[in-house]
Amino acid sequence: MERKALYAGSFDPVTNGHLNIIERAAAMYDSLTVAVVVNPQKTGFFSVDERVRIIQEVTEHLPNVHADRFSGLLADYVNENGFTAVVRGLRDTADFLNEFQMAQMNALLYTEGTETVFLMTDPACSFISSSLVKEVASLGGDVSRLVHPLVAAKIKEKVR
Ligand code: COA
Repeated sequence: MERKALYAGSFDPVTNGHLNIIERAAAMYDSLTVAVVVNPQKTGFFSVDERVRIIQEVTEHLPNVHADRFSGLLADYVNENGFTAVVRGLRDTADFLNEFQMAQMNALLYTEGTETVFLMTDPACSFISSSLVKEVASLGGDVSRLVHPLVAAKIKEKVR
């Protein structure tokens, strides 16, 4: 049986913290789908199309990774696509508290006994968040050590 994993999130934009989780999860599973959640209530910094395209480009070196999008309930998307694992990154205890609750709710909703799998974030990335990256960049700060060079260039373009 193919071991298909999912890594879902806003990815607005994808950061080095996310990329670290993607690379490690890709090594653990036969395939990894990185899916952008579509939230009609939120206008992102990057559009969903842009986010998906950026993920495709920064994961080009990982042949078993592909990018997608979904809307609605995560568990529906998981059940419809037969993912065996949903990977989440943990940066700190605040992440843990949220993730613990979501994992338990999702466990009730998954039909095939899909597991939520937690990977501890790389210590070098534990302070990174997409919002902080956007805030620092929009105020003229250097984010080149926090995101892939392609993402840094796209942020620069947008900020201009
Ligand atoms: N490194 C760096 N940053 C990380 C990270 C890591 N390893 N892991 C998470 N982050 C950051 C993100 O950049 C984001 O930062 P921001 O708030 O500054 O933008 C933040 O942590 C939140 O992460 P993200 O994964 O994007 O969103 P989320 O925690 O809200 O979860 C889903 C996303 C898709 C799992 C969740 O919203 C969901 O399930 N949505 C569908 C609706 C649903 O099913 N709801 C019921 C859930 S039980």
